[in-house]
Parts: sequence; structure tokens; C-alpha cells
Amino acid sequence: MKRLRCDQTPAWAALKCHFDASGQHFDVRHAFAQDTQRFENFSQDAPHVFADLSKNLIDADSQALLLALARQCDLEPARDALFSGQKINSTENRAVMHFLLRNPPSAHYTPAQAAINKIADAQAEVEVTLNAMLAYAEQVRADTAITDIVNIGIGGSDLGPQMAVLALAEFAMPGKRLHFVSNIDGDELAGVLKNLQPASTLFLVASKTFTTLETMTNAHSAKAWFEAQGGRDIALHFAALTTNVAAANAFGISTTFGFWDWVGGRYSLWSAIGLPIAIAIGAAGFREFLAGAHAMDEHFRTAPLEGNLPVRLGLLDVWYRNFHGFSSRSIAPYSSALRRWPAYLQQLEMESNGKRVDTDGQPLPFDTSPVLWGEPGTNGQHAYFQMLHQGTTVVPVEFVAVKKAAYAPNDLPGHHAMLLANALAQAQALMRGQADAGGHNNFPGNRPSTFLLLEQLTPASLGALIALQEHRVFVSGAIWGINSFDQWGVELGKVLAKDIAPRLQSGDVSGLDGSTAGLLGRLLHEGS
Ligand code: F6P
Repeated sequence: MKRLRCDQTPAWAALKCHFDASGQHFDVRHAFAQDTQRFENFSQDAPHVFADLSKNLIDADSQALLLALARQCDLEPARDALFSGQKINSTENRAVMHFLLRNPPSAHYTPAQAAINKIADAQAEVEVTLNAMLAYAEQVRADTAITDIVNIGIGGSDLGPQMAVLALAEFAMPGKRLHFVSNIDGDELAGVLKNLQPASTLFLVASKTFTTLETMTNAHSAKAWFEAQGGRDIALHFAALTTNVAAANAFGISTTFGFWDWVGGRYSLWSAIGLPIAIAIGAAGFREFLAGAHAMDEHFRTAPLEGNLPVRLGLLDVWYRNFHGFSSRSIAPYSSALRRWPAYLQQLEMESNGKRVDTDGQPLPFDTSPVLWGEPGTNGQHAYFQMLHQGTTVVPVEFVAVKKAAYAPNDLPGHHAMLLANALAQAQALMRGQADAGGHNNFPGNRPSTFLLLEQLTPASLGALIALQEHRVFVSGAIWGINSFDQWGVELGKVLAKDIAPRLQSGDVSGLDGSTAGLLGRLLHEGS
């Protein structure tokens, strides 16, 4: 039977009534005054991650209704379809099995899982590739001649590995510098190459398709530089991470690590795309990273919806987007190591759920993905937190804090405590406000936030934190009834860039709109 669209379920109607009657006036300060157990009632332990949801604009009724919405939107069957390898990426006719990449080798399958999509065969291939990739990572780590590793990739082939390598810098081996080149702007590649020597450099060309314009342009230029600088042996100094091994071979790269079409680009850092992470933190560290994510997979797969953190976060996202009408979420990692966390989450959420039609291609009458944005704390405080506290728009904030610093805290006394104090104070100030003050000093307060807390930033906890976000995006996408695993919206710009590129040589503006033709003219003609 066809599932009901979320806005046609009884739970959605009940949520609307609840919002109109009381939800829109909900005051979290009153809720704390009335319920001394609110922190306990609205917080959740999950593997490696503790989440305090209590400063959000939710009460027991809205939570119960959101859980009813999840059930009426068949969230549990959707989750089962994911984990049993069904082809839930319907527009590309693909399964979505990034979770397989982090299954422990000894994983057992139910007969149903094994039957669908040859999941057991896929797992066997995953293990072979993972072992080969980790052996290669160890070989690179042991090779003292290689000091610089340049990852050339973009989108999912850049953001995840880059974010994770920065986040786990304290676990990285000394003597290896990792660089990430993504932009087609030659400034980026030139800036990296000028400090490198071919003999001590390893290039990783990371591209699921091995056709992406930016990556291929950078890869060709890197190869040309390598040869022009007298570099020998491409086989030793270039490796490719791709599902398109044939294209990598044609490019001249013989060292390749493959993955599969059932790994989406933005979900690919667990695959061969994670090689820079494995080089940085080693094979054992990478396995811990996978194990942390697997622990979160198991939590998501098995925990009842009411105690399931990705489910609770995903439902909160629906509540804020579709009932409160909040259009963005600010990401505030109080951890400098997590400085690329907002950028990574932007792709994960917005490329996955930035869709305007349902899985059947029918336009949706309600909003989907929020805009995600942010910077690490405390920097954001001195830039845009003003707007979060006193602007006219409410923006839920998602804090991430780490209890134990990665560096020896005694070396830099006071820093970490002050960092944590600021994170807590901002979340507190957003909620409390300063309603008794007048004029410019008036803070309305009641501004919602979620506080995610890690014991330490380790490979395992980072793995769990990422998997948490992947599943949370799945949850809201499943409620909205969209395909969270395709990205057709990226294609049009790529096609048009191919049309415009030759016009920058020829000057031909025929058929272009006035603005594009005008801008092209200014780019081409001196003094205009
Ligand atoms: O931006 C679109 C996109 O297809 C992303 O989904 C993907 O992560 C990125 O391009 C890079 O693709 P590839 O790994 O194939 O080079």
C-alpha cells in the first residue's frame, strides 16, 4: 500500500493543532520551571554521543505526536529497507549501503538481508578492498620518502576526508603533511604545488565518477607538474580512489582503490575515499573510526524510536522546518579541530534533502532541507551570534562540545575550561535572554539549541558523530518522502559551464540571456 504523504497523515494534522494551540507559544523557561526532570527527560545517550535536547521548543505532547508522525510515515519500514539493501535511491536505481562499509568483518546477516541485493557478496568485497587500502595506508606511513600527500577531489570526495583529517590531527602521525585541493581555481593547486617536490609527494585523485570537471582538471595539471618537474613513476606517486577504475587506468594511474555505486559521494568517507584519513591516523585508527560509526548504526537500527537519537533529531528538524517555519540551523562546534564540520554538514543535509519533489517526482507543498551554516565557537560569537540572540529570525543552534581536550590541558591551562564555559553560556543566553531589560539590552530568549557532547574527539567518537548526522538526515528525508540520495540539482550548472567555457574563447554570446552575455562581454573586452 502506498504510504501517505506526511502532510496528509492524522499526526501531521494533530501537530498542526498542537502548534496552533500551544506549540507556537511554548516557552522553554517555563517548561524548565514546571519540570525539574526536563534535562533527564529530553536528553539522550547514544554511542559516543550525549545529546541534550532540553533547550528545544518541544514538550512531551509534541514529541509523542512527532513519534506518531514517524510511524504513520512508515519510518521503521524505511529504515529496514535501508539496512536490508533495497534500492531506495529510486531515481538512480541504487541501494544505499554506506553502513556496510563500517560493518565489522564478523557481521552476521539475517537471511532476508543476505537475499536482498547480494548484500553478503558486497560485504566480502568491502573487506577485501578495506584490507588493501589500509595496507597501502600503512605502506605510505612507513615510507619516509613521502612527506606530502595531496588529495584532489571535490564535494564528498573532499569535505568528509578533509573534515576528519583536521578533526583527528592529534591522532595523526608526524612527518606527513596532508593537503586538500578541490577548487578549479588554479590558485589552490598552485599554492600547494609551489612548496612540493615530486619525489616526496603522493597525489590521491579522489572521484567517485572520475569525470568531475574540477577534479579532472586539477589531476591533469598535477600530473603535468609532476612530469615537468622531472617526476618519475606515476605508479608510485599517484593513486586513484574511485568507482571508475577503468577511467583511472586510462588516465595513467595503476594504483587504484575502488568502491561501489551504492556509496553516495557525500557518504563515501568510509570507503576508499577515506584513504587520507587512514594515512593520517593509521589502519587501527581507521578501524576505530568505522567501529564508532557502526555502533551508531546499531543504535539507529535497533533502538525504539522514542529512545533513538537520530530519530529524535530528525523529527525535531521536521518540527522546526514545517511547523515553526525555521528556515536554517546554525552549526556551532566548540572545537577548533571540528572547523570544517559546518561545511561537511552543509553537503550532507542540503545535497541530501534539498529537494522539492517526492520520490515519485511530485512537487511538495511543504518545506524540506533547512539552510545549514556556521563557524567554530568561539569565533562565531564575535561574528554573527548577535543575530542569533537579538535578530528578528529564530535560528536553532546545534552545539558540539568535547569534554576532554586532545592536547595536554596542563600545557595550556584554562583554555579548555573557558571554551566549554563559552559553549554553555551561549546556549544558556539563547534560552534565558534578558527580557527584563529594555531597548537595545533586551534579549527575547527562548531561542532553541541542541547540545551534543563527546567525551573526547577520537576516531571512534567522530565516526559515531558523523553516522548520527547521516541517519538524522535520512529520518527527516524519509518523513518528507523525498529521495535523500540523488543530487540532480547539481547537473544543470555543470551542463551550462560546458556551454559557456568555449564562449570565453570565441566571444559568442548568441542565445544567452542579457545578463550572462553582458558579463561575458566585460570579461572579454579590455576597459569595459
Ligand atoms: O556536487 C555533485 C557531486 O556529484 C557530489 O555529490 C559529489 O560528492 C561531488 O560531485 C564529487 O563527485 P565525484 O566524487 O564523482 O568527483
